[in-house]
Amino acid sequence: MELHIGLENIAIANSAISYANGEKGELIYRGYWAGELALDKSYEEVLHLILFGTLPDAAELAQLRARLEALRVLDSATTAMIAALPAQASDMAALRAVLSCQPIAGADWPPTLDQALAIFAIAPTVIAHRYRLSQKLAPVAPRAGLSHIENYLYMLSGKVPDPDFARALSAYLILCIDHDTNASTFAARVVASTQADIVSAVCAAIGALIGPLHGGAPSKVDDLLDEIGSADQAQRVISGKLERGERLMGFGHRVYKTWDPRAAVLKKVATSLHGKDPLLDLSLAVEKTAVALLEQHKPGRNLYPNVEFWAAAVLRAVGVPKTLYTPTFCCTRIAGWCAHVLEQAQNNRLIRPKAVYIGGRPAAPAQLD
Ligand code: ACO
Repeated sequence: MELHIGLENIAIANSAISYANGEKGELIYRGYWAGELALDKSYEEVLHLILFGTLPDAAELAQLRARLEALRVLDSATTAMIAALPAQASDMAALRAVLSCQPIAGADWPPTLDQALAIFAIAPTVIAHRYRLSQKLAPVAPRAGLSHIENYLYMLSGKVPDPDFARALSAYLILCIDHDTNASTFAARVVASTQADIVSAVCAAIGALIGPLHGGAPSKVDDLLDEIGSADQAQRVISGKLERGERLMGFGHRVYKTWDPRAAVLKKVATSLHGKDPLLDLSLAVEKTAVALLEQHKPGRNLYPNVEFWAAAVLRAVGVPKTLYTPTFCCTRIAGWCAHVLEQAQNNRLIRPKAVYIGGRPAAPAQLD
């Protein structure tokens, strides 16, 4: 049996949702360049593309907006559950716990678009509601008339956001809405392949996204910038880390062996917010120094900034608290996971790989009388 540790370059399904070309630095969503969608389309339009398969016309877009608006309100059982969660539980653990108990949790196979929209729409409200409670602030209910992104920022701060902030966050969340068969998406597809419900698949994916090698990096990028402190310290701090064999958070990618196309677009978005992010100049200096030092310490490994490096700049500038970086990423990726679960269900076969057994072999079994 051939061994594929890490399943690199192993295809597990045909998929029409997204395509990442790591050599060329390309990302395509259902036939469109993700970078162009991020800069030219609204978040809801891209959500429609990912979940329904097409960009919406005006009527479809209005209908989607109305459905999201209706679905994003928490019921009293959910608000009571959020209030009762242990304070020390992480926001991702809280989201996983609350989603797993949504009334849709017992939904039968096969998964549906309605279930997908329900989970997707409620997640940001859960995150914002718990965040406000953790800050000893009154939760802010969703506000009708705001877009999905505006409403998220509104529920966090209690203020209707600056349109530039909403546009920047929308670009980030579009760029992260789906990404081929990454670890969390694979986890979702594995669970769905057992004919478990869509919420179980999403909760499994949340677990996979928690790890720092996957979705947990952007807040660690902020930690790196804090540690570096000022541009003149970048060389010293980064060299020290690389000499000690540490990894630089926000650099390198399993698929992209050139610039992560999402990072390139986000860098543009982050730079357009100049003056609103106090750490932008430091980010630019750290990126330049890190790319040069990574090439020096890890020649030929092609290590460049990944989406999370520039995500940290955008999230910081628009006022998303550091503790919510990964949960915010998660809220958008739920759409991608659901699209993959629906696609898996259309042509399902139980995903059941094997391991190459390297354990011992017992003596011949005793003969039974
Ligand atoms: N800093 C320093 N060295 C690195 C980094 C990094 N960020 N990334 C990879 N390397 C080095 C490895 O040490 C290894 O060196 P070696 O050949 O001397 O052993 C070499 O590059 C190849 O590394 P792998 O671990 O084989 O690469 P892999 O494809 O498995 O790693 C990963 C991808 C996990 C993202 C890695 O680059 C990393 O740990 N980055 C930091 C964490 C991060 O930014 N995660 C967010 C990813 S984006 C996302 O999930 C949305």
